[in-house]
Amino acid sequence: MFVLVNLKTYPCDPVAVAEAVRDVDESTDARLAVAPQATHLERVADTGAETWAQHVDPIDHGSNTGQTLAESVADAGAVGTLLNHSERRLKLADIDGAVRAAEHAGLETVVCANNPAQIGAAAALGPDAVAVEPPELIGTGTPVSQADPDIVEDAVDAAQHVDRDVSVLCGAGISTGDDVVAAGDLGSEGVLLASGVAKADDPTAALEDLVEPL
Ligand code: G3P
Repeated sequence: MFVLVNLKTYPCDPVAVAEAVRDVDESTDARLAVAPQATHLERVADTGAETWAQHVDPIDHGSNTGQTLAESVADAGAVGTLLNHSERRLKLADIDGAVRAAEHAGLETVVCANNPAQIGAAAALGPDAVAVEPPELIGTGTPVSQADPDIVEDAVDAAQHVDRDVSVLCGAGISTGDDVVAAGDLGSEGVLLASGVAKADDPTAALEDLVEPL
């Protein structure tokens, strides 16, 4: 299972969480990664933790102001990027452009979507993975795998109908090892989570709990 921890703009210490991700990753068969804010990418990547960006723009080098260039993210040490997160929605054409920009920079891609229909559309753009996250469950602590298991299974079906090679992750409210196991039982190959780790008093313990049953 892939466990991708999105730090959003939570007031956690990104380096401390990254060190916890690195250490727990070394003690488990699961793959762990962390997605800090763009300004923290380099410091986080320097810890040795697998580092992802939260977003890149569909642009190339040139006349762009205030945007995030995929090459810069890769130069900072990121190996992948989220795209179209529920809190950073893009138009369809821009998701397509951002997937291409990320691929050009050698970044792995996870395109987020709200529901199975959007997952099918996202999978058709050819990212490495898609992630279904019902927005109403984000940050609630109520796991999608429990509150809405059908949405995960339907997302897996929708993605595989389009492209059998695209991985499907799920997210929203995931915070325990049982949630991760339930996500896997529904056909998900990983989880995307934030508050369960970024807001935890002890991120290492939170991460250990997440991977303990794997
Ligand atoms: O990107 C992860 C996400 O939106 C889920 O957030 O806090 O419910 O784990 P959370």
